[in-house]
Amino acid sequence: MRVRKTFLPFALPDVDETEVAAVASVIRSGWLTSGPKVTQFEKEFAAAVGAAHAVAVNSCTAAMHLSLEAIGLREGDEVIVPTYTFAATAEVVRYFGARPVLADIDPVTRCVDPARVEAAISPRTRAIIPVHFAGLAAEMDDIRAVAARHGLKVIEDAAHAFPTKYKGRTVGSISDFTCFSFYATKTLTTGEGGMICTDKEEWSERCRMMSLHGISHNAWKRYTAEGSWFYEVVAPGYKYNLTDIAAAMGLAQLHKASRMRERRVQIAERYSAAFRGMPELEPPPEAPAGGQHAWHLYVLRLNLDRLTIDRARFFDEVKVRMIGASVHFIPLHLHPYYRDTYGYKPEDFPVAYREYQRAVSLPIYSRMTDDDVQDVIDAVREIAERYAGGKPEARNPKLESSSNSE
Ligand SMILES: Cc1ncc(COP(=O)(O)O)c(C=O)c1O
Repeated sequence: MRVRKTFLPFALPDVDETEVAAVASVIRSGWLTSGPKVTQFEKEFAAAVGAAHAVAVNSCTAAMHLSLEAIGLREGDEVIVPTYTFAATAEVVRYFGARPVLADIDPVTRCVDPARVEAAISPRTRAIIPVHFAGLAAEMDDIRAVAARHGLKVIEDAAHAFPTKYKGRTVGSISDFTCFSFYATKTLTTGEGGMICTDKEEWSERCRMMSLHGISHNAWKRYTAEGSWFYEVVAPGYKYNLTDIAAAMGLAQLHKASRMRERRVQIAERYSAAFRGMPELEPPPEAPAGGQHAWHLYVLRLNLDRLTIDRARFFDEVKVRMIGASVHFIPLHLHPYYRDTYGYKPEDFPVAYREYQRAVSLPIYSRMTDDDVQDVIDAVREIAERYAGGKPEARNPKLESSSNSE
């Protein structure tokens, strides 16, 4: 067994002296919180994704919360969310006392299945939150058609999807709202951060106002004669604004976004070329023509009927070789809160349940060297070869007991 001398982290931000200098300059300027850097970041980010408006906030979770607030979500309403996602996508619906109605995913893209979305619609449904899993766009034309048929809003969870394209269009310019994440592991990071993109001025103004305590900017304009001390609270808002420190980092990251994506594409191509011929493994899909995969994650599928070990063991074998890995995602309906509150059973969403059991996320980030990439390939191939040869009929699809410890 080949083992790396040093541990290869699952994710590392691609930051260097450019970000350090940008942040230092903001600190030296004396203006630390939301100011000129945030304004510039919003402007450049909106241009990069082709949105009319961008509102910078301190997380994607905040971005989704504010988007739902802007459409006037209320207690008792329903919002359709894929079960195969991170906690944030559904919890923001609960903030309103509304119900996140879970839907199963497409077996190829692992994004929400538009047919399952339509089947989950009730008279109380107000919105759909598709997730662009791993950085590959969800089937947006179909989702928007479903939304249009039923008068629903679409809020894209684009936490993984910068820069992603769908049929020639950049994610950020497609739906009512698109919410990005700049969390530490994301393809563009500000440590913590997020962005709301929308084409509707009224929504962007509402999000902006609610991101800062519900303080009306119009009031500032209206009462300039009374001086800059005057403000009016017109709604009980939140404290979700991004700082200039973070925005300076975001701008530096934005300026090298293409280079970072190109490197992730190279890594994904090398992985897929190395795993494609192996019956134990199934590389993730690439973007179809006209699309662009952001490759935030490389989520390998294991063909469990060709292996003598399960995913939990495969994961451990990767780790033993000093390589960081992860699992995306433990479907929401398997988590105690959603399971117990709504009575979901593992088999209620069979595609998500199956995909979860065979998913292993491998490291994919622009700072990886060619040797790092080769180490991952060697490790995965070695594990697959060593444990090749399962007995399909003997396999038990029960939920793995050790998976929650990941
Ligand atoms: C699909 C998805 N949505 C939302 C989020 C939340 O992003 P943030 O941490 O910026 O709130 C994440 C974070 O990992 C995510 O994976």
